[in-house]
Amino acid sequence: MQLIHSSAELKGVLSKRKRVAFVPTMGNLHAGHLQLVEIAKQHADCVVVSIFVNPLQFGPNEDLDKYPRTLAADCEKLEAIGANVVFAPSVSEMYPGFNGKSLNQNVTINLPAIASELCGASRSVHFSGVATIVSKLFNIVQPNVAVFGKKDFQQLFIIRKLVNQLNFPIEIIAGDTVREQDGLALSSRNGKFNPAEKLQAAQLHLTLREVVEAIKLKQKDFITIEADAAQRLSEKGWQVDYISIRSSATLQPASKNDGNLVILGAATLNETRLIDNIEFCAKPLN
Ligand code: PAF
Repeated sequence: MQLIHSSAELKGVLSKRKRVAFVPTMGNLHAGHLQLVEIAKQHADCVVVSIFVNPLQFGPNEDLDKYPRTLAADCEKLEAIGANVVFAPSVSEMYPGFNGKSLNQNVTINLPAIASELCGASRSVHFSGVATIVSKLFNIVQPNVAVFGKKDFQQLFIIRKLVNQLNFPIEIIAGDTVREQDGLALSSRNGKFNPAEKLQAAQLHLTLREVVEAIKLKQKDFITIEADAAQRLSEKGWQVDYISIRSSATLQPASKNDGNLVILGAATLNETRLIDNIEFCAKPLN
């Protein structure tokens, strides 16, 4: 496995490859990321994993400085499962002239309204930052396929739109969320929990499951189901950002006629914000 820090060197290495599959990450890899690499291996003769903590997708009060950087351990894991190339550029490689604060000298991507809803409502720069770095990485790596996790359902939705509307010739493949036995979705942020918090952390997933059950009962409208779920989670000590029942095809608020739903949630336990979602195929309710 090769560890490469410069885009020019990466381009040289990849020019000899037939088919490239790409897994973009911010490092601190867990079994969820490694599953994406396993999927990537099935689609190409060369798997490139990028490790880059992208400053553009963090707001001023978010945890950019504290984001765990574990390059050596990540490379060991990637080598063990057969990734071919790790691309770990510096901030100045990706954003020449970046002053660490604002990118207003640079081109960024203007996203549709969905990027300002759900996670985008409280993280205003987040998806524009994600779209910008993913576009840059796509242009550098020029993969045939790229693999993203379904845990970041809204991110996956936005990336699919980006690829479709900006004509990137790349197939996007989605990897299922990997979970602990109690249902907690694997996330780099889980490492911040103490043992007691870790036990409590599965409550977000369990609340989304309860939403699914409530939809199946057909006794309440979606707005009431969302509000009840948020209330129960707050009573357990969480700060709830949203619990939302959406159409998985459009990511718009679901109507009772939508069959394919996704229940999305974001909430903070003590200082740690988690997101999760469950896709659910409901028969039209009328
Ligand atoms: O999902 C992530 O880890 C990041 O948002 C991504 C796609 C690597 C862009 O920085």
